[in-house]
Amino acid sequence: MKRGSIRFKMGWNYRGIGASFAPMELDPREIVPQFWYNIIPDLPRPLPPPRDPPSAEFSRIDLLRDIMPEEVLRQQFTVERFVKIPEEVRERYINIGRPTPLLRAKKLEEKLGTPAKIYFKYEGATPTGSHKINAAIPQAYYAHNEGVPAVTTETGAGQWGTAVALSASMFGLRSSVFMVKVSYQQKPMRKTIMNLYGADVYPSPTELTEAGKRALARDPNHPGSLGVAMSEAVEYALKQRLKYLVGSVLDVVLLYQSVVGLETAQQLELIGEEPDVLIGCVGGGSNFGGFAFPFLGHGSKAKLIAVGPSEVPKFSSGKYEYDFPDEAGLLPMIKMLTLGRDYVPPPIYAGGLRYHGVAPSLSLLMQEGKVNWREYGEDEIFVAAKLFSEAQGIVPAPESAHAVKAVIDEAKSAQRNSERKTIVFNLSGHGLLDLSNYESMMKRFGG
Ligand SMILES: Cc1ncc(COP(=O)(O)O)c(C=O)c1O
Repeated sequence: MKRGSIRFKMGWNYRGIGASFAPMELDPREIVPQFWYNIIPDLPRPLPPPRDPPSAEFSRIDLLRDIMPEEVLRQQFTVERFVKIPEEVRERYINIGRPTPLLRAKKLEEKLGTPAKIYFKYEGATPTGSHKINAAIPQAYYAHNEGVPAVTTETGAGQWGTAVALSASMFGLRSSVFMVKVSYQQKPMRKTIMNLYGADVYPSPTELTEAGKRALARDPNHPGSLGVAMSEAVEYALKQRLKYLVGSVLDVVLLYQSVVGLETAQQLELIGEEPDVLIGCVGGGSNFGGFAFPFLGHGSKAKLIAVGPSEVPKFSSGKYEYDFPDEAGLLPMIKMLTLGRDYVPPPIYAGGLRYHGVAPSLSLLMQEGKVNWREYGEDEIFVAAKLFSEAQGIVPAPESAHAVKAVIDEAKSAQRNSERKTIVFNLSGHGLLDLSNYESMMKRFGG
């Protein structure tokens, strides 16, 4: 078996990521990359840096030093194209079942009668059921290395909180999770899993923080939002001297999620496929960026489609400007597509997509026209999720169902134009803990 470096057809040489060998000889563990990929040096123009608000009474950038693990903060600002994945982290990636499978959605193709080939990377195959664990493991690892006893974070639908709870327990850390209240009520089993992994879970807004109290003073029935929950987690980390783990939006999270795209590129190369279209849904952007940026960085000509909910219309109505990632404005301002930090999203089931902003690197690429977008409403994504479940047997998370809907539209357009294109998408999570949401959607729209 010839070991060494693998050369992607698109022309980049990823040293040490794997080996060039026939699929028959493949050890799946070799597909798990040894480096994360960072898009920052490959952006078409420099990324506007995070900054403090004018006449700030304290420096938010300094605050990051207090709440984030040092190495995570260093990597947030790195301009290195490749960042070595620590062996301890790579081992955990393998323990949770990486590489995750790349599957062909043959039955969906048949149901749609499309000439297109549809592949999906299945991140729902991880123990916590989504891609989120890819970014939680390294952050918990770096926090543990710095000797902190506990970490804290926010979560929308519960996927990120679950990933943090498990990653923290992997490294012997305690964890507390501020979960958006409406999701806490809609998805009680998420709390149960987090508790099983040893986390404390609070429905946000809470009375535990000033940010939570302010939100409740404005509206005692506040449904919560990721922006408020994030402010609560940051404030709690500061007060309790814990480390805060960030779930999306900041570019370092897209860096960690690049394992998804790097594996997908390897897996496609092994079966002799090249993508014509790459699709993923966007909450804060780490799912889409992690999946698609490694392809963009290699010079792939694939059309990139980022998908979001029309109920949270940040692609169509967001402004590209400096804004706070969190509602209380504790974190540094970043230049991004945003609906405004005080925007309260409607309580759609795709809790992980209820966020006002888009990661700076992805926002910039959208501004430059390198990434296309689609927005779909809950009724449309329900129909897509049902079709996919019937065809493939996998119930997609409501967030991932947004990508499924875009895939179906692309496959139908391929049929109209008789194009045999290859569509690849990231099925970022399964929906087995979202069944009560699907139950009520079936009642609403008919099953
Ligand atoms: C299953 C699933 N897919 C996608 C997303 C959106 O992720 P990101 O914030 O990385 O864009 C989430 C967020 O919680 C999720 O749970």
